[in-house]
Amino acid sequence: MDRGTILAGIPAHVPPALVRDIDLFDLPGEHEDVHLAWKKLQDSSPDMWFWPRHGGYWVVNRAALLAEAFPDFERFSSDRAISIPAVPGTPAQLPIDADPPLHGFYRRPLNVAMSPRAVRTYAAEARALAIELIDALKPRGECEFVADFARHLPMTIFLRLVDLPLEDRERLIELADQMIRGGTQEAKYAALQGTYAYLEEWVKRRREHPGDDLLSRIVQMQVEGRTATHEEALGECALVLFGGLDTVAGTMSFVARFLATHPDHRQQLVEDPTLIPAAIEELLRRHSIPTLGRKVTRDMEFGGVQLKQGDRLMLVAPLHGLDERAWADSLNVDFKRKTDTHMAFGAGPHKCPGANLARAELQIFVEEWLKRIPEFGIAPGMQAETLPGQVLGVARLPLAWPTQA
Ligand code: HEM
Repeated sequence: MDRGTILAGIPAHVPPALVRDIDLFDLPGEHEDVHLAWKKLQDSSPDMWFWPRHGGYWVVNRAALLAEAFPDFERFSSDRAISIPAVPGTPAQLPIDADPPLHGFYRRPLNVAMSPRAVRTYAAEARALAIELIDALKPRGECEFVADFARHLPMTIFLRLVDLPLEDRERLIELADQMIRGGTQEAKYAALQGTYAYLEEWVKRRREHPGDDLLSRIVQMQVEGRTATHEEALGECALVLFGGLDTVAGTMSFVARFLATHPDHRQQLVEDPTLIPAAIEELLRRHSIPTLGRKVTRDMEFGGVQLKQGDRLMLVAPLHGLDERAWADSLNVDFKRKTDTHMAFGAGPHKCPGANLARAELQIFVEEWLKRIPEFGIAPGMQAETLPGQVLGVARLPLAWPTQA
């Protein structure tokens, strides 16, 4: 489309100079390093700019503005606003697609199921599984980290949270894989529908025979004095799956890629494993992954531009962690950096309820892997491949290590 046609389609209050027609899911260099691709775009763009696709979105380009927008549901609503673009024919993803006070009803079962005490139980199981997987991989001297390791931990934890059969793990991993790497939109959509069909069956069963797992809590949750509908329960269950699978697998793969290519940093953690929790926070800051949509609730000025009610905003969490104005030398990873304001898990009412579970899974991975495979790198002659999209990820991470003691 030529620029004249693009400009003709944008709202009158958007200054033409702020319109950048870029394919955000096809950025130059994104397969080699998707964070560097975003960083280049950030450095060459104003604080707020307008993306004229899917009906048009303001891209919030600065950390300070992102920190302001993430928690502010009164000005920036999440109501059916999260997916970019929306996926037709699927239920609202709850609680992420709802605003307070309704949001609070949907959020309650998650807070209970992922309390610090519950996380300790799951962490013990995740550690046992991590050890089992690494012990099986170690003698091979190589693996494709994403498929062989990163997807297994979060999927197993999800199945435990909702008390679904562990033997369904491979089937769901396959569906999730198709959703990310499915090549065509049709393949991705079919995988999404397949996942909903699988969960739907279980939502029905739990209604008839509830237990004390998260899925049972979700089907029984009270929303403004009534029990959740089938669609609400399905939408919330799917979000726990999607919200907890790709995000953990993606972050874990970025962490593994970083350690594979930075022997000095790796050595610091091998020598002093007490640094690992701080290292995970810094790596989360440097490799934040999700982008969330929001809807503007009233006309206002924000970030030096005029917003109108109904405008859409894109909150790209990776841009927070990469912004030099908030993080000096932002591309550099420094395990001693003060990171408590990073936006990898968001902020405000929607702040990730799975954050402590995710941290535990990441910590367990690094601890157990480095104990068993302290030296590793990208397999010779091969390359890691990163993935663009609403949740950044890693498509392929071929690793190799010495097998001799
Ligand atoms: C490294 C891993 C993870 C990252 C980077 C991540 C990131 C995020 C972010 C940024 C949000 C806020 C969304 C917003 O403001 O609109 C969020 C919300 C959410 N996350 Fe996570 N997440 C991770 C792991 C998990 C896990 C393990 C689970 C569950 C098992 C989970 C479930 C959810 C749910 C249900 C929400 C919606 C919360 C609400 O709307 O109140 N996430 N996550």
